[in-house]
Amino acid sequence: MLTLGIETSCDETSVALLKGTSILADRIYTQTMHEGFGGVVPEIASRAHIRKIDALCDAVVAESRIDISEIDLIAVTDGPGLAGALLVGISFALGLHCARGIPITGVHHLDGHISAIALEYPALRPPFLALVVSGGHTALYTVLEWGVYALLGQTIDDAAGEAFDKVGKMLGFSYPAGRAIEECARHYGGGDLIAFPRARLAGHELDFSFSGLKTAVKYFLADKTAEFLETNKARICASFQLAVVEALTRNVAAALRASGLLCVAVVGGVACNGALRAQLRAELGETSVFFPSPKLCTDNAAMIAMAGQGMALGGRLRFPSCQPSRPL
Ligand code: KG4
Ligand code: ZN
Repeated sequence: MLTLGIETSCDETSVALLKGTSILADRIYTQTMHEGFGGVVPEIASRAHIRKIDALCDAVVAESRIDISEIDLIAVTDGPGLAGALLVGISFALGLHCARGIPITGVHHLDGHISAIALEYPALRPPFLALVVSGGHTALYTVLEWGVYALLGQTIDDAAGEAFDKVGKMLGFSYPAGRAIEECARHYGGGDLIAFPRARLAGHELDFSFSGLKTAVKYFLADKTAEFLETNKARICASFQLAVVEALTRNVAAALRASGLLCVAVVGGVACNGALRAQLRAELGETSVFFPSPKLCTDNAAMIAMAGQGMALGGRLRFPSCQPSRPL
């Protein structure tokens, strides 16, 4: 089955062609023009998607050496995400669908992130746990079967990636700041870490909260000099990162214990983080934790094609519809 994936929900324009679990070709254009704004500017994002999507699709089709008429399914992200940005991908996909009569499906962005694990671990079969940690989401699910999820816990305020990005802004890093914080933290020799809080939510042990941590970093920085910040940057990054990593690891371990399931897939942009990978592997065991490779953790169209393919095989295709709060 040949599936064309299209992803434009935020600041990555991506197109990929998938055959089974093989990525025949993929293109990801990351919009760097948001760097100075501390976050994604929706109107700029939409216009950048419009400029890029056609050429990316042409490149993917050319590299795959197929004719468009051979495509069996178009899978396009239809939420959640920035409305204008989503509409670019959806409109482009609908154009192809109408012009060529190719079947189409809308894909939930988080279904895409979780499906990324199937691209590299085809032997992994539900049920298992999935931790989605990205710039927009932090949530724990039981994957009952592909495409069927039960929510176990989620953030009650900021997403983990959002916390990385906001703390990064306080420390002078450009957006998105997750990778820069990780790199800076790596320069810290250890010892004397700052005791930033790990929120515990009484009665909701599997939920997450990162806004208190963000505020704690803000207050910590409030009375410090620029010189202190410069000499302590790596220590602050390491302390903040450890607080996020420990909060995520604690809930994943608790969910595994409570569910009796044996493994967890950790997906989304923050799953690129080496400290998170190391801590989860150390705590849960090498064979219990699965991560997509970094390129498939951040937003990409191959994961959307994979989810769409699963929907086709499971008889769950649905017409794209840009609804703001469709649950997974
Ligand atoms: O999944 P993604 O590409 O987009 C969303 O769906 O949100 O995730 C982007 C998020 C950003 O917040 C970025 O700072 C974070 O993933 N991120 C990281 C790392 N690489 C990306 N966070 C921590 N460590 C990293 N190495
Ligand atoms: Zn995402």
